[in-house]
Amino acid sequence: MQPTIELKDSYGRPVKSLRISITERCNLNCIYCHNEGSEGSQEEMTPTEIANIVKVGTEYGIWKVKFSGGEPLVRKDFEEILRNLPPLKDVSVTTNGIYLEERAKGLKEAGLDRVNVSLDSLDPECYGKIICRSPKLHKKVLEGIDAAVEVGLTPVKLNMVLLKGINDDQIDEMMKFTRKYHGKVVLQLIQLMDFNETSRFQVNAENIEKMLAEKADEIRVRTMHRRRKYMIDGTEVEVVRPVDNTEFCARCNRLRVTADGKFKPCLLTNDNLVDTKGASIEELRELFKLAVKKRVPYNRR
Ligand code: 5AD
Repeated sequence: MQPTIELKDSYGRPVKSLRISITERCNLNCIYCHNEGSEGSQEEMTPTEIANIVKVGTEYGIWKVKFSGGEPLVRKDFEEILRNLPPLKDVSVTTNGIYLEERAKGLKEAGLDRVNVSLDSLDPECYGKIICRSPKLHKKVLEGIDAAVEVGLTPVKLNMVLLKGINDDQIDEMMKFTRKYHGKVVLQLIQLMDFNETSRFQVNAENIEKMLAEKADEIRVRTMHRRRKYMIDGTEVEVVRPVDNTEFCARCNRLRVTADGKFKPCLLTNDNLVDTKGASIEELRELFKLAVKKRVPYNRR
């Protein structure tokens, strides 16, 4: 067992969490999707390769891992990936929820703590026609959320990317839906990042926060990204504002890993990737340090 050494980048930012993409395959086709900033690789890491990266991470003080995609649940061996992990405090996945109902119980048993589910609208037409281009699957997502709550993959966080003229008038409805789960489901309103020429859908996040502040019984500020959390009639609503936000970058404590096994110090750039393919544990320790060294806040003061 190696002693825990906390790594900081040259901007003084410690690295506490990993965000690991395990596949670029996805069964949806959402209009805004950033694909975790990928370069379009077909290769995927094995459960052992993933476990080795996480193990080395824990030696450097990583305690939190989030899996993402593509759609992580298209990997049939995701449960095996989970079972191979070293002990962590927080293991979660961001999923579109379509396979969640059938997998929730097994995922919990394999060690998953909680899920984030992408749900931009409660209206199947809106969800299907405009956002995720798959109206029939909307019901599956709602069933997936219920299943996740039932097996205790909680708090379930609903990711709602705000899109002007599409779903920005549906926040109240989404809060009402969330409230039905008595604290086991929370809402995350996410500001759109323009990856696919979608700037016409950008909302004014400041106005949304004002609206929430007026309704809130209490406002808390999270250390993570200085995000504000609004407690409204017993339900929690968080706002994620990644766009042009120096505070967001200054407080970033994550290191990404691409599906084909490259450390990716920032979502928004691919000019500082660190390839781990074929690396031994010893080599991974050095590559991990190198990736942390390459971390630069995208939005600087
Ligand atoms: N802007 C903001 N959030 C995005 N996501 C994907 N693409 C974008 C984007 N362009 C988020 C969604 C989804 C998660 C996988 O990534 O919240 O739930």
